[in-house]
Amino acid sequence: MQPSVLVTGASSGIGASTAKRLAEHGFRVFGTSRHPAQHVAAAAHVEWIEMDVHDDASVAKGVAEAAAAAGGLDALVCNAGYGIFGSIEEVTLEAARAQFETNFFGVLRCVRAALPDMRRAGRGRIVLVGSLAGRAPIPFQAHYSATKAAIESMALALRNELHPTGVKVVLVEPGDIDTGFNDVMDWGDPGASAYAERARAAERVIRESLPRAPGPDVVARAIHTALCARRPRVRYTIGAETALTPIGKRWLPDGIFLRLIRKHFDV
Ligand SMILES: NC(=O)c1ccc[n+]([C@@H]2O[C@H](COP(=O)([O-])OP(=O)(O)OC[C@H]3O[C@@H](n4cnc5c(N)ncnc54)[C@H](OP(=O)(O)O)[C@@H]3O)[C@@H](O)[C@H]2O)c1
Repeated sequence: MQPSVLVTGASSGIGASTAKRLAEHGFRVFGTSRHPAQHVAAAAHVEWIEMDVHDDASVAKGVAEAAAAAGGLDALVCNAGYGIFGSIEEVTLEAARAQFETNFFGVLRCVRAALPDMRRAGRGRIVLVGSLAGRAPIPFQAHYSATKAAIESMALALRNELHPTGVKVVLVEPGDIDTGFNDVMDWGDPGASAYAERARAAERVIRESLPRAPGPDVVARAIHTALCARRPRVRYTIGAETALTPIGKRWLPDGIFLRLIRKHFDV
């Protein structure tokens, strides 16, 4: 039978690539966007679901709609997310909360909506898209980094909670990927910051790094593998820096690890 998957944030970048790859490999793909009508023509291989992961009712409705159409979801890929930029001192609590609402609570909402049926069925795959930033926090992107560290914790704890159930949880951890992520980033106004010079330097590094990074297909391939492997790994890291960071973090004193991060981001 054709496996079904719901991919959040399927309208661009990693989510769009993942939806395309999974559809090409026989999955029935439900993809979410806040504005699905804009994406129907470009991605007819996706069955579009309107969803804002900020909103409890929107998530419950979207997940229920996909599950009803498919006769039960086999997999969920929690990918929707965005970034905010700015110092811990200056980013407003409102912006910080909004960041967690999408990147952490948005994932939690989707998992809670999809999980009961999967658990009852005794099978299913849940992929959470984390980030290297969750392990190596980015200066002036503390809030984003914190959401991704929280996603790592959720993924690992959930994998254990579901251990006897047949539902497997996988963390996919990309490093830099060339998508439109920086175009929709909430940059604030680094020039007006009390940290202006260093914030601008970090901004420059962040803006310059994505166009040099691999495209989203590398993440789509890892997600596809995570969904199809008989025994999926707990974690799929993408990119050399993502593989090396945990080694550095484990063996280097914290001070040196942080100094390497400062050097990388030119702050
Ligand atoms: N690019 C990177 O370097 C990188 C590295 C590590 C991890 N990641 C993670 O990968 C994921 C995808 O990022 P990307 O690089 O592919 O960025 P992207 O091209 O900007 O795509 C983000 C997707 O998230 C969706 N989205 C954003 N807010 C949403 C909300 N409130 N409700 C529903 N959907 C929402 C957008 O859909 P609509 O606007 O259509 O609703 C869009 O499809 C994110 O979780 C990001 O943190 C990215």
